[in-house]
Amino acid sequence: MKPRSLVSIDDLNTGEILKILDLAAEFEKEPVQKLLEGKVVATLFFEPSTRTRLSFESAINRLGGKIVGFSDASSSSVSKGETLHDTIRMVSSYSDLIVMRHPIEGSARFASEIASVPVINAGDGANQHPTQTLLDMYSIRKTQGTLDGLNIFMVGDLKYGRTVHSLMMAMSRWNTTFNFISPDELKMPDEFKLYLENLGLRYYEHSDFTDIISRADIIYMTRVQKERFSDPIEYEKVKNVYVLKNAMLANTKPNMRILHPLPRVNEIHPDVDSNPKAYYFEQALNGVYTRQAILCSLLGIK
Ligand code: CP
Repeated sequence: MKPRSLVSIDDLNTGEILKILDLAAEFEKEPVQKLLEGKVVATLFFEPSTRTRLSFESAINRLGGKIVGFSDASSSSVSKGETLHDTIRMVSSYSDLIVMRHPIEGSARFASEIASVPVINAGDGANQHPTQTLLDMYSIRKTQGTLDGLNIFMVGDLKYGRTVHSLMMAMSRWNTTFNFISPDELKMPDEFKLYLENLGLRYYEHSDFTDIISRADIIYMTRVQKERFSDPIEYEKVKNVYVLKNAMLANTKPNMRILHPLPRVNEIHPDVDSNPKAYYFEQALNGVYTRQAILCSLLGIK
């Protein structure tokens, strides 16, 4: 039987998502638990990462597991022309679970079909980033006390932003109102809007959000991703289109929180960092607890 992988957020049903969030809350209370003793986890990062790789590695270390892998594919035999197929086949036999980030959409699903161990998608191109979504949901539930009926503003690069694609799909299960704020060039792709339309859910598209900011429960800022543009002139046109500043937050709801998957470039001014509504650094910390919960769930560890 194929092992259970986490490639798309839709690989988990609602009950499984809630179970992971509850388990993450347990790990937040007691992060050091030797539940992965004797297990080897491979972290294969074909694209740069700070938070996803290091929070996974922190999670594995706190659980007593061991790590093999690379943070730069040029140090692996991929640089000699080895295929993803052969790489995954080999690493499957060296590890109990594979965490992989790769620039090509669909690469994680491909890897999960070859691997004899579970594969966790740590981001595949502009497609999906399901573990980011689970930590985002953990952060939303923790700060709002609920996942239900929230008004979520997604701001910035909604075209290439895999974090917003995954989060939108997951939050569509909780009667969310979505406000998509982006320049024309970076609008939410039709396939994701169709996903919401098929569920009968509301979404609104805007090119600016200063006049409606008071309605938001969550503002989810995203970086315009230079690395996804083939034309640098196109990137220059949109790179600073939204910059959230502290003065803009005066009329926001008391419990509104600002999330960002990070890294940020210019889209959140540093003067927001000291505002109690800024939650992005705590959000990144929640990634350790959430990833502990994901690892244990996929490995069937109680
Ligand atoms: N949020 C996120 O995926 O960050 P990294 O690219 O640093 O892993």
